[in-house]
This record gives sequence, C-alpha cells and structure tokens, in this order.
Amino acid sequence: MANIIEKPETITPRPNLPDYDETYRTFEWKNAYDQVAWDDRGRLNAAESAVDRHARSPLKHKVALYWQGADRNEEYTFLELSNLSNRFANVLTSAGIKKRDRVFIFLPRIPELYVSFLGIIKTGAIAGTMFSAFGPDGLYDRLHDSGARCLITNSSLKKRVNEIKGDLPDLEQIIVVDETDVAEGEISYPEAMKKASDTFDVAMMSPNDPAFMLYTSGTTGKPKGVVHRHLAIVQQHMTTEWVLDLHDNDIYWCTADPGWITGITYGILGPFSCGASVVVHDGRFDPDAWYSVIEQYRVTVWYSAPTAFRMLAQAKDAHKNHDLSSLRHICSVGEPLNAEIVHWGMRAFKLPIHDNFWQTETGGILIANYPSMPVKPGWMGKPTPGITAAIIDDNGIEVRRGVEGNLALKPDFPSLMLEIWKNPRKHAEYFMGDWYLTGDRAVQHEDGYYLFIGRSDDVINTSGERVGPFEVESVLIEHPAIAEAGVIGKPDALRGEIIKAFVVLGDDYEPSDDLESDVRRFVKARLAGHAYPREFEIVDALPKTRSGKIVRRMLRAKELGLPIGDVSTLE
Ligand code: PRX
Repeated sequence: MANIIEKPETITPRPNLPDYDETYRTFEWKNAYDQVAWDDRGRLNAAESAVDRHARSPLKHKVALYWQGADRNEEYTFLELSNLSNRFANVLTSAGIKKRDRVFIFLPRIPELYVSFLGIIKTGAIAGTMFSAFGPDGLYDRLHDSGARCLITNSSLKKRVNEIKGDLPDLEQIIVVDETDVAEGEISYPEAMKKASDTFDVAMMSPNDPAFMLYTSGTTGKPKGVVHRHLAIVQQHMTTEWVLDLHDNDIYWCTADPGWITGITYGILGPFSCGASVVVHDGRFDPDAWYSVIEQYRVTVWYSAPTAFRMLAQAKDAHKNHDLSSLRHICSVGEPLNAEIVHWGMRAFKLPIHDNFWQTETGGILIANYPSMPVKPGWMGKPTPGITAAIIDDNGIEVRRGVEGNLALKPDFPSLMLEIWKNPRKHAEYFMGDWYLTGDRAVQHEDGYYLFIGRSDDVINTSGERVGPFEVESVLIEHPAIAEAGVIGKPDALRGEIIKAFVVLGDDYEPSDDLESDVRRFVKARLAGHAYPREFEIVDALPKTRSGKIVRRMLRAKELGLPIGDVSTLE
C-alpha cells in the first residue's frame, strides 16, 4: 500500500463562486428536487425537465442546439427542439411503442439523434444509444440483450444492422432518418415527421421509472445494460451547474458522443436542463477544426477528455491561430488528467482544466475539482455535494487518508443506475455492505482530494473509452487464424492505454504483417472502430488458471516487466 506524502501545488480559483465546504456540508438531495419540473402527483420526465419547460419560459426562442456538420450548420431553439421531439414521440406512439419498450438510436452526431433521444424519453419508453463506430457484433450484443423493439438509424449505418437483423426477433421497426422511399417494415423519418403533430402529452413518470440505458464493458462477459431513471435529471442538472459552472447565458461544447454516458448526461440532459446553448460538432478530431468551433460559436464552457487535450498539446501552437478568449471554464473526464496537461492548459488558454471523475453506472459526476476550490493538478478533486466517497479495503473497511484502496460511494444519490438490464446478479456485484464499488483504486490525501491509481480489474481505458478485454478476445477468436487470445491495456503516453492482444495462431497459420492487418481490420469491422488492438504479439501459449481462464494480469506483468505475483492457482 502506498503512502502519499508530497503536497502537490494548486491553482487558485476564480473569486465569487459558491463555497465548496459550505455547500457540501449543508446539501441534501431533496432540496435540489425543485431544480427540475414535477407534476402535482410527484411525477417527472427527464426530457420535459431538460427541454420542454424552457420552451414554455422566456428561454423559448433561445438557441438550444447549434449543430455544425461537414457541409452545413443548423440551429434549433428550445421551442423547436420541444416541438420536433413531440413530433417524434407521436411517430413512435403511432408505431405502437409503449412505456418501457427499448428504442435504440444508431446515428452519427446529427440533429435527428437529439430529437429522437428526447422524443423516446417523452413517450416513457427507454432510449438506448449506440456509438456509430459499432460493427455488427457490437450492435447485436446490445440490441439482442435489450430486446429493442425499434431502431433509429440512417441509410449507411443500416447496412451493418441488416447483417444481424435476421437474428433479432424483437426488432420490429427500423426508422431511417435520411430515406423517403424505405423498404418494407421500415419507417421514413422525414415522411412520418411531416405528418406528425407538434403537440404531445408527455408521459409523466415515477422518479424510479427507467429513462435511458447504455451498454458498458466489464472484465467478464458481454457489455452490460446500465439503466438510468428519470430522477437522475436532478443530479445531472445540479452537477452541470456546480461542476461545469453552466448557466443559461453560456455557450457550451461537450466533445463526447451520445453513444457514451458523457454525451448523454453532459451533452444533452444536464446542459439543456440548465438552459445553456449546446454546440455539437459532427466531425473527426482535428486541432484546427476544434479550435474553430470554440472561436466560431464563442464557446464559454468546454468539456472534453485527457486524450483530446494531449493531442491538442501535441499540435503545439495551433491554439495561437484562433481567438479562444470566449472560454471561461474547462473540464475533463474519462481518464487520468496528467498534471502536465493542466499546466499546458494554463499556458494555452490561461485557464486550469478541471478534472472530474464518474462512470457510466453513476450517471453523473461524483468527484471534481469544483470551480470554487483550488485545482490540484493531477488530482481528481473532492466529492460533489450529496456524494459520500471513501477508500475501503477489500473487506469493506475504510482506510486512513493517504492509504490506497478501493474507491467506494454511498449508493444514495439520484443518478446511480437503477439496474443492470435483466442481470440482477451483475448489479449485486457492485455492492459491498453499505458501499457501491467503482472498481477503481484511489487514494485520498489529508486535505480531502482524491488521486486516481488505476482499475482494480482488467477493464481497459483507451482514449477515455472503456473496452472489455473479453469482448475483444471473443471477436479475435472468430478470426480463422486465431486459436486463442488474451487482451490487455498497455500504458500509452497519448491514449492512456492502448489495446494489446496476445494471440495463439491455429496450426495452419504463420505470422505475417498481412495477417496482422487482416486481424485488425476484422476486429474493427465486427466489433467497433475504437476497440481494435494497436499491438499484437504472437505467443505459443497463454497463461491460464487450472479452470482454463486466461490470466491477463500475467500478460500485463510480462509486458511491463513487473513481478508476476502469486501463481499458486495457475496451470
Ligand atoms: O476508471 C475510471 C475512468 O473511467 C471509468 C469510467 O468509464 P466510463 O463508464 O466509460 O465513463 C467515462 C465517463 C464518465 C472509471 O471507472 N475514469 C473516469 N474519469 C476519470 C477516470 N480515471 C481517472 N480520472 C478521471 N477523472
């Protein structure tokens, strides 16, 4: 166990912000409930709280969504977004979609994604999102497990869906956003939207009713369906205001895709709920294009991820070619934010980058460099109001400050997942006694700040994206040349980790560069664009337990030249 003794330097905050200690000490969740919209029977709807209530307020003609595509830009006011999502909710109910049905979205970051996400939630159905880089295997796992009844996609992504559609008996309807002449059994979005009404009686839901779900990776098994409830909007609203410091006069840019939790909580629900204007850039990473977004829209608050900041830092003086003076507050999430990058941010933007920590399962920020606190470069910050965090040992006992252990939380906050879809056993594995376990190792300094140490399991974090080794291994062994595969995350200065695969070839195959590129293409096409191994190593055999499970910690120890540890249970 490591004892941390050094006192890291801090960057002092802007003055006149709410005091952290005071807010943390006095805060209770029930006092925040009136930040969102309830009916007189104690029901709410996350989409209505996020958008519709502003469409009835003085903000109604304010731009809610600035969308920048490859060759055109669009703007939608709160009123327009409310009306369009009402129309889409009508399209869904006419198609027979009912409360709790799973309706999935497989789209690039286009306005229809935002309209359909809100529209699904308004009907009381459960909205699911899928990153547009998923291949047929990634799609099948999600659509099959969730029993999705309806899918919204476009003509080019539909081709991947068609490969697996025959194996998805629950998938009754496909809504295509860019076709007017659709195939049998499909619905044309433009045609259906044209006919639908602007008004819709939004389904007001109980706080614990499910609102949206998305799949995330663990060490074992296929991705798990994390289900979030309508009540989560309370925490999504509060943390957006406190941590992202977002208000209704802000222009805000979240670089995450709604296929991941950050793109939902802090790309849609939280910022709209705070009445901010959200900028969406549908394009690939490019330093000049990114800085142009800030310059063009006069972005005031920017939420991104360490790998992106590291890539921007590599682009040296690119920021000097742009007027970035609109920026007021910058935040980062998803992977460790190294102190050097915070210092680079100070030089490039004259602002500290505020790290914060949370997970798909927690639905909202848990630990943060709160705007009113000094930023400690390299540290994640302190628990947000309403969050009790602790470091516990493997028996669930709290350890002293300065001692490394398991990062745990009291599971009493509104945005904690409701369930793992159809998997109560997996859900139960997250809890030990009174604690929710994050699966992360951390240490708390004497002054209360938390430092991230690493995962306590084999989950890989590559460029802030969570990848389960089992999923990649499963696809690798589908390749005819591969008999066995073991996959680990290997530390990488730019991406945090890269995926490295150790493979045993089948008898008739010889190693070659062609084979390697073929396997890489295979994983990219089957599973997802971000999940392919950047490194391969062909080995004669993989380390296994006596029951035949691959011991990834030995592969990692070998790769990093670390001690191998206890091998008594191994073959
Ligand atoms: O390991 C932690 C890492 O990302 C995991 C959660 O990933 P995901 O569910 O995809 O959600 C990402 C966006 C919220 C965590 O268990 N992680 C997240 N934030 C940080 C982090 N690691 C270090 N520092 C962070 N700030």
